[in-house]
Amino acid sequence: MSERVRITDVSPRDGLQNEPARVPTADKVRLIEFLCATGVDEVEATSFVSPKWIPQLGDAEDVLASLELEAGREGPALSALVPNEKGFERALAIHQGGRPLKIAVFTAASETFSRKNTNASIAETIERFGVFLPRAFEAGMAVRMYVSCAVACPFEGAIEPGAVRRVTDALLALAPGGGVDVEIDLGDTIGAATPESLSALLDAFPEEAMRRRIALHLHDTFGRAASCVRRGLELGVRRFDGAVAGIGGCPYAGTPEKPAPGNIDTELLVGTIHDAGFETGVDMDALKRAGDFARQILAQCRAAAVKGGAS
Ligand code: HMG
Ligand code: MG
Repeated sequence: MSERVRITDVSPRDGLQNEPARVPTADKVRLIEFLCATGVDEVEATSFVSPKWIPQLGDAEDVLASLELEAGREGPALSALVPNEKGFERALAIHQGGRPLKIAVFTAASETFSRKNTNASIAETIERFGVFLPRAFEAGMAVRMYVSCAVACPFEGAIEPGAVRRVTDALLALAPGGGVDVEIDLGDTIGAATPESLSALLDAFPEEAMRRRIALHLHDTFGRAASCVRRGLELGVRRFDGAVAGIGGCPYAGTPEKPAPGNIDTELLVGTIHDAGFETGVDMDALKRAGDFARQILAQCRAAAVKGGAS
Protein backbone atom coordinates (compact mmCIF):
# COMPACT_ATOMS: atom_id res chain seq x y z
CA MET A 1 0.00 0.00 0.00
CA SER A 2 1.28 3.49 -0.78
CA GLU A 3 2.38 5.78 2.00
CA ARG A 4 -0.07 8.50 3.07
CA VAL A 5 0.77 12.20 2.78
CA ARG A 6 -1.16 14.81 4.75
CA ILE A 7 -2.66 17.80 2.90
CA THR A 8 -3.79 21.14 4.32
CA ASP A 9 -5.60 23.57 2.06
CA VAL A 10 -4.97 27.14 3.22
CA SER A 11 -6.96 28.96 0.55
CA PRO A 12 -9.68 30.43 2.80
CA ARG A 13 -6.92 31.99 4.95
CA ASP A 14 -3.68 32.53 3.03
CA GLY A 15 -5.60 32.55 -0.26
CA LEU A 16 -7.90 35.42 0.71
CA GLN A 17 -5.92 37.48 3.23
CA ASN A 18 -4.16 39.54 0.55
CA GLU A 19 -7.26 40.05 -1.58
CA PRO A 20 -8.10 43.78 -1.63
CA ALA A 21 -11.69 43.25 -2.79
CA ARG A 22 -13.84 42.07 0.13
CA VAL A 23 -15.09 38.51 -0.31
CA PRO A 24 -18.59 38.05 1.16
CA THR A 25 -18.72 35.83 4.27
CA ALA A 26 -21.21 33.49 2.57
CA ASP A 27 -18.71 32.84 -0.26
CA LYS A 28 -15.92 32.06 2.22
CA VAL A 29 -18.25 29.61 3.93
CA ARG A 30 -19.12 27.94 0.60
CA LEU A 31 -15.42 27.70 -0.29
CA ILE A 32 -14.68 25.93 3.00
CA GLU A 33 -17.62 23.59 2.42
CA PHE A 34 -16.31 22.77 -1.07
CA LEU A 35 -12.86 22.07 0.43
CA CYS A 36 -14.31 19.90 3.18
CA ALA A 37 -15.77 17.66 0.45
CA THR A 38 -12.38 17.07 -1.23
CA GLY A 39 -10.81 14.66 1.28
CA VAL A 40 -7.99 17.02 2.38
CA ASP A 41 -6.91 16.45 5.98
CA GLU A 42 -7.21 20.05 7.07
CA VAL A 43 -8.65 23.35 5.92
CA GLU A 44 -7.11 26.54 7.30
CA ALA A 45 -10.37 28.39 7.45
CA THR A 46 -9.56 31.88 8.69
CA SER A 47 -7.42 34.05 11.02
CA PHE A 48 -7.91 35.45 14.48
CA VAL A 49 -5.45 38.26 13.73
CA SER A 50 -6.17 41.94 14.18
CA PRO A 51 -8.83 43.07 11.66
CA LYS A 52 -6.91 46.33 11.47
CA TRP A 53 -4.02 44.39 9.97
CA ILE A 54 -6.03 41.95 7.83
CA PRO A 55 -9.51 43.45 7.22
CA GLN A 56 -10.44 40.66 4.82
CA LEU A 57 -10.54 38.09 7.64
CA GLY A 58 -12.33 40.26 10.20
CA ASP A 59 -15.37 37.96 9.90
CA ALA A 60 -13.61 34.88 11.36
CA GLU A 61 -16.29 34.13 13.96
CA ASP A 62 -19.13 34.55 11.45
CA VAL A 63 -17.42 32.25 8.96
CA LEU A 64 -16.95 29.48 11.50
CA ALA A 65 -20.45 29.89 12.94
CA SER A 66 -22.05 29.67 9.50
CA LEU A 67 -20.42 26.45 8.36
CA GLU A 68 -22.84 23.65 7.67
CA LEU A 69 -20.78 20.52 7.43
CA GLU A 70 -22.30 17.16 6.68
CA ALA A 71 -23.51 15.71 9.97
CA GLY A 72 -21.84 12.48 11.01
CA ARG A 73 -19.17 12.75 8.30
CA GLU A 74 -15.57 12.61 9.45
CA GLY A 75 -14.47 15.90 7.90
CA PRO A 76 -11.08 17.59 7.79
CA ALA A 77 -9.65 19.42 10.79
CA LEU A 78 -10.40 23.15 10.72
CA SER A 79 -7.65 25.54 11.70
CA ALA A 80 -7.10 29.27 12.11
CA LEU A 81 -4.16 31.60 12.65
CA VAL A 82 -3.60 32.97 16.14
CA PRO A 83 -0.94 35.67 16.71
CA ASN A 84 -1.47 36.57 20.37
CA GLU A 85 -3.52 36.01 23.50
CA LYS A 86 -6.43 38.05 22.19
CA GLY A 87 -6.60 35.87 19.09
CA PHE A 88 -6.33 32.77 21.26
CA GLU A 89 -9.33 33.80 23.37
CA ARG A 90 -11.36 34.18 20.18
CA ALA A 91 -10.27 30.73 18.93
CA LEU A 92 -10.87 29.09 22.31
CA ALA A 93 -14.41 30.46 22.45
CA ILE A 94 -15.18 28.76 19.13
CA HIS A 95 -13.43 25.54 20.16
CA GLN A 96 -15.28 25.35 23.46
CA GLY A 97 -18.51 26.38 21.78
CA GLY A 98 -18.53 23.06 19.93
CA ARG A 99 -16.52 23.67 16.75
CA PRO A 100 -13.15 21.95 17.42
CA LEU A 101 -10.28 24.06 16.12
CA LYS A 102 -6.59 23.59 15.50
CA ILE A 103 -4.63 26.79 15.98
CA ALA A 104 -1.69 27.97 13.90
CA VAL A 105 0.79 30.30 15.56
CA PHE A 106 3.28 32.06 13.32
CA THR A 107 6.70 33.59 13.58
CA ALA A 108 9.65 33.87 11.18
CA ALA A 109 13.32 33.14 10.75
CA SER A 110 13.84 36.78 9.69
CA GLU A 111 13.73 39.63 12.21
CA THR A 112 12.68 42.21 9.62
CA PHE A 113 9.79 40.12 8.37
CA SER A 114 8.68 39.28 11.91
CA ARG A 115 8.46 42.98 12.76
CA LYS A 116 6.62 43.88 9.57
CA ASN A 117 4.15 41.01 9.94
CA THR A 118 3.48 41.05 13.69
CA ASN A 119 5.05 44.25 15.07
CA ALA A 120 7.30 42.08 17.24
CA SER A 121 10.76 40.54 17.21
CA ILE A 122 11.04 36.77 16.78
CA ALA A 123 11.72 36.38 20.52
CA GLU A 124 8.69 38.52 21.37
CA THR A 125 6.39 36.43 19.17
CA ILE A 126 7.58 33.24 20.87
CA GLU A 127 7.11 34.86 24.27
CA ARG A 128 3.52 35.74 23.26
CA PHE A 129 2.84 32.12 22.31
CA GLY A 130 4.17 30.95 25.69
CA VAL A 131 1.39 32.95 27.36
CA PHE A 132 -1.46 30.95 25.84
CA LEU A 133 -0.12 27.67 24.42
CA PRO A 134 -0.37 25.80 27.76
CA ARG A 135 -4.09 26.57 27.76
CA ALA A 136 -4.40 25.45 24.13
CA PHE A 137 -2.80 22.10 24.92
CA GLU A 138 -4.94 21.75 28.03
CA ALA A 139 -8.05 22.37 25.91
CA GLY A 140 -6.95 19.60 23.55
CA MET A 141 -6.23 21.87 20.60
CA ALA A 142 -3.78 20.65 17.96
CA VAL A 143 -1.16 23.27 17.11
CA ARG A 144 0.70 24.26 13.97
CA MET A 145 3.78 26.44 14.35
CA TYR A 146 4.71 28.36 11.22
CA VAL A 147 8.23 29.58 10.59
CA SER A 148 8.06 32.06 7.70
CA CYS A 149 11.02 33.01 5.52
CA ALA A 150 12.46 29.53 6.02
CA VAL A 151 14.47 29.89 2.79
CA ALA A 152 14.56 33.62 2.07
CA CYS A 153 13.14 36.89 3.32
CA PRO A 154 11.81 39.62 1.01
CA PHE A 155 13.82 42.18 3.02
CA GLU A 156 16.92 40.29 4.25
CA GLY A 157 17.57 37.87 1.37
CA ALA A 158 18.76 34.29 1.93
CA ILE A 159 18.16 32.82 5.39
CA GLU A 160 20.56 30.33 6.96
CA PRO A 161 19.04 26.89 7.71
CA GLY A 162 20.62 27.11 11.18
CA ALA A 163 18.50 30.18 11.94
CA VAL A 164 15.34 28.24 11.02
CA ARG A 165 16.42 25.37 13.26
CA ARG A 166 16.99 27.72 16.21
CA VAL A 167 13.52 29.25 15.88
CA THR A 168 11.97 25.78 15.52
CA ASP A 169 13.70 24.51 18.64
CA ALA A 170 12.52 27.56 20.61
CA LEU A 171 8.95 26.90 19.43
CA LEU A 172 9.08 23.21 20.28
CA ALA A 173 10.33 24.06 23.76
CA LEU A 174 6.81 25.45 24.32
CA ALA A 175 5.17 22.11 23.57
CA PRO A 176 4.74 19.46 26.23
CA GLY A 177 6.10 16.01 25.38
CA GLY A 178 3.94 12.98 24.75
CA GLY A 179 1.19 12.57 22.24
CA VAL A 180 0.58 16.25 21.63
CA ASP A 181 -0.08 17.09 18.00
CA VAL A 182 2.40 19.82 17.10
CA GLU A 183 3.32 20.50 13.50
CA ILE A 184 6.24 22.65 12.37
CA ASP A 185 5.30 24.39 9.14
CA LEU A 186 8.23 25.78 7.19
CA GLY A 187 7.04 28.67 5.04
CA ASP A 188 8.78 29.56 1.80
CA THR A 189 6.96 32.86 2.03
CA ILE A 190 8.20 34.31 -1.27
CA GLY A 191 8.61 31.11 -3.27
CA ALA A 192 12.39 31.35 -3.38
CA ALA A 193 13.12 27.67 -2.69
CA THR A 194 14.88 25.40 -5.15
CA PRO A 195 15.27 21.66 -4.60
CA GLU A 196 18.88 22.43 -3.59
CA SER A 197 18.07 25.11 -1.02
CA LEU A 198 15.26 22.94 0.33
CA SER A 199 17.71 20.04 0.79
CA ALA A 200 20.05 22.38 2.68
CA LEU A 201 17.14 23.48 4.89
CA LEU A 202 15.99 19.94 5.64
CA ASP A 203 19.59 18.92 6.39
CA ALA A 204 19.27 21.16 9.47
CA PHE A 205 16.59 18.65 10.61
CA PRO A 206 18.38 15.32 10.25
CA GLU A 207 16.14 13.44 12.70
CA GLU A 208 13.52 11.24 11.02
CA ALA A 209 10.91 12.02 13.72
CA MET A 210 11.43 15.75 13.21
CA ARG A 211 10.96 15.46 9.46
CA ARG A 212 7.64 13.67 10.07
CA ARG A 213 6.50 16.69 12.09
CA ILE A 214 7.50 19.13 9.36
CA ALA A 215 5.02 20.52 6.86
CA LEU A 216 6.14 22.46 3.80
CA HIS A 217 4.21 25.61 2.94
CA LEU A 218 5.36 26.56 -0.53
CA HIS A 219 4.54 29.63 -2.54
CA ASP A 220 5.00 29.19 -6.29
CA THR A 221 6.56 32.40 -7.60
CA PHE A 222 8.95 30.81 -10.08
CA GLY A 223 7.13 27.57 -10.90
CA ARG A 224 9.56 25.53 -8.78
CA ALA A 225 7.19 24.51 -6.00
CA ALA A 226 6.31 21.11 -7.54
CA SER A 227 10.00 20.17 -7.83
CA CYS A 228 10.39 21.21 -4.18
CA VAL A 229 7.47 18.94 -3.24
CA ARG A 230 9.21 16.02 -4.98
CA ARG A 231 12.43 16.80 -3.13
CA GLY A 232 10.58 17.12 0.19
CA LEU A 233 8.99 13.70 -0.34
CA GLU A 234 12.39 12.16 -1.12
CA LEU A 235 13.73 13.61 2.12
CA GLY A 236 10.90 12.26 4.31
CA VAL A 237 8.44 15.16 4.52
CA ARG A 238 4.86 13.87 4.63
CA ARG A 239 2.83 17.06 5.19
CA PHE A 240 2.22 19.82 2.66
CA ASP A 241 0.07 22.93 2.32
CA GLY A 242 -1.55 24.25 -0.84
CA ALA A 243 -4.28 26.67 -1.87
CA VAL A 244 -6.81 25.87 -4.58
CA ALA A 245 -6.41 28.00 -7.70
CA GLY A 246 -2.92 28.91 -6.42
CA ILE A 247 -4.30 31.98 -4.65
CA GLY A 248 -2.77 33.88 -1.76
CA GLY A 249 0.30 35.48 -0.27
CA CYS A 250 1.24 37.45 2.83
CA PRO A 251 0.37 41.17 2.52
CA TYR A 252 3.46 42.00 4.61
CA ALA A 253 5.78 40.10 2.22
CA GLY A 254 5.09 42.29 -0.81
CA THR A 255 5.69 45.78 -2.12
CA PRO A 256 3.44 47.70 -4.55
CA GLU A 257 5.81 46.79 -7.41
CA LYS A 258 6.23 43.20 -6.33
CA PRO A 259 3.14 41.69 -4.70
CA ALA A 260 3.46 38.58 -2.53
CA PRO A 261 3.22 35.37 -4.55
CA GLY A 262 0.43 32.79 -4.41
CA ASN A 263 0.62 29.37 -2.79
CA ILE A 264 1.23 26.19 -4.72
CA ASP A 265 -2.10 25.20 -6.28
CA THR A 266 -3.50 22.27 -4.26
CA GLU A 267 -4.36 20.49 -7.54
CA LEU A 268 -0.72 20.67 -8.63
CA LEU A 269 0.43 19.67 -5.13
CA VAL A 270 -1.82 16.61 -4.90
CA GLY A 271 -1.15 15.58 -8.52
CA THR A 272 2.62 15.78 -7.88
CA ILE A 273 2.28 13.67 -4.73
CA HIS A 274 0.15 11.04 -6.48
CA ASP A 275 2.59 10.91 -9.42
CA ALA A 276 5.41 10.27 -6.95
CA GLY A 277 3.56 7.14 -5.75
CA PHE A 278 2.01 8.43 -2.52
CA GLU A 279 -1.62 8.54 -1.41
CA THR A 280 -3.55 11.52 -0.10
CA GLY A 281 -7.21 10.49 0.00
CA VAL A 282 -8.04 13.61 -2.02
CA ASP A 283 -10.64 13.42 -4.79
CA MET A 284 -9.22 15.35 -7.75
CA ASP A 285 -12.66 16.11 -9.24
CA ALA A 286 -13.88 17.59 -5.95
CA LEU A 287 -10.65 19.59 -5.72
CA LYS A 288 -11.21 20.95 -9.19
CA ARG A 289 -14.75 22.02 -8.21
CA ALA A 290 -13.32 23.84 -5.18
CA GLY A 291 -10.69 25.54 -7.37
CA ASP A 292 -13.32 26.62 -9.92
CA PHE A 293 -15.43 28.07 -7.11
CA ALA A 294 -12.43 30.00 -5.71
CA ARG A 295 -11.69 31.46 -9.16
CA GLN A 296 -15.35 32.38 -9.60
CA ILE A 297 -15.73 34.23 -6.29
CA LEU A 298 -12.46 36.12 -6.75
CA ALA A 299 -13.44 37.15 -10.29
CA GLN A 300 -16.83 38.33 -9.01
CA CYS A 301 -15.53 40.37 -6.11
CA ARG A 302 -12.72 41.90 -8.18
CA ALA A 303 -15.26 42.89 -10.87
CA ALA A 304 -17.52 44.38 -8.18
CA ALA A 305 -14.57 46.33 -6.73
CA VAL A 306 -13.64 47.75 -10.17
CA LYS A 307 -17.27 48.75 -10.77
CA GLY A 308 -17.51 50.29 -7.27
CA GLY A 309 -14.25 52.20 -7.84
CA ALA A 310 -15.42 53.51 -11.21
CA SER A 311 -18.71 54.87 -9.96
P1 HMG B 1 -0.30 45.49 17.11
O1 HMG B 1 -0.87 46.63 16.35
O2 HMG B 1 1.10 45.60 17.61
O3 HMG B 1 -1.24 44.99 18.30
O4 HMG B 1 -0.42 44.21 16.17
P2 HMG B 1 -1.85 45.69 19.56
O5 HMG B 1 -1.83 44.65 20.62
O6 HMG B 1 -1.20 47.01 19.79
O7 HMG B 1 -3.38 45.92 19.10
C1 HMG B 1 -3.77 46.88 18.16
C2 HMG B 1 -5.27 46.78 17.98
O8 HMG B 1 -5.62 45.51 17.40
C3 HMG B 1 -6.03 46.85 19.31
O9 HMG B 1 -7.31 47.39 19.01
C4 HMG B 1 -6.22 45.41 19.67
O10 HMG B 1 -7.32 45.17 20.50
C5 HMG B 1 -6.44 44.77 18.32
P3 HMG B 1 -7.68 48.91 19.44
O11 HMG B 1 -7.45 48.97 20.91
O12 HMG B 1 -6.71 49.78 18.65
O13 HMG B 1 -9.09 49.05 18.99
N1 HMG B 1 -6.02 43.37 18.28
C6 HMG B 1 -6.80 42.36 17.90
N2 HMG B 1 -8.07 42.30 17.50
C7 HMG B 1 -8.57 41.08 17.20
N3 HMG B 1 -7.85 39.94 17.25
C8 HMG B 1 -6.56 39.96 17.63
C9 HMG B 1 -5.99 41.22 17.98
N4 HMG B 1 -4.78 41.58 18.41
C10 HMG B 1 -4.79 42.89 18.58
N5 HMG B 1 -5.85 38.83 17.68
C11 HMG B 1 -0.70 41.85 15.81
C12 HMG B 1 0.07 42.94 16.55
C13 HMG B 1 0.05 40.54 15.99
C14 HMG B 1 -2.09 41.77 16.39
C15 HMG B 1 -0.78 42.24 14.30
O14 HMG B 1 0.51 42.48 13.86
C16 HMG B 1 -1.40 41.19 13.43
O15 HMG B 1 -2.58 40.88 13.57
N6 HMG B 1 -0.59 40.62 12.48
C17 HMG B 1 -1.06 39.58 11.62
C18 HMG B 1 -0.57 39.81 10.24
C19 HMG B 1 -1.00 38.65 9.37
O16 HMG B 1 -2.07 38.07 9.57
N7 HMG B 1 -0.17 38.31 8.36
C20 HMG B 1 -0.48 37.26 7.46
C21 HMG B 1 -0.40 35.91 8.08
S1 HMG B 1 1.24 35.25 8.18
C22 HMG B 1 1.52 34.57 6.61
O17 HMG B 1 0.77 34.79 5.70
C23 HMG B 1 2.68 33.65 6.42
C24 HMG B 1 2.25 32.17 6.37
O18 HMG B 1 1.32 31.95 5.32
C25 HMG B 1 3.47 31.27 6.16
C26 HMG B 1 4.37 31.71 4.99
O19 HMG B 1 3.88 31.84 3.86
O20 HMG B 1 5.53 31.94 5.27
C27 HMG B 1 1.57 31.75 7.69
MG1 MG C 1 1.80 31.70 3.20
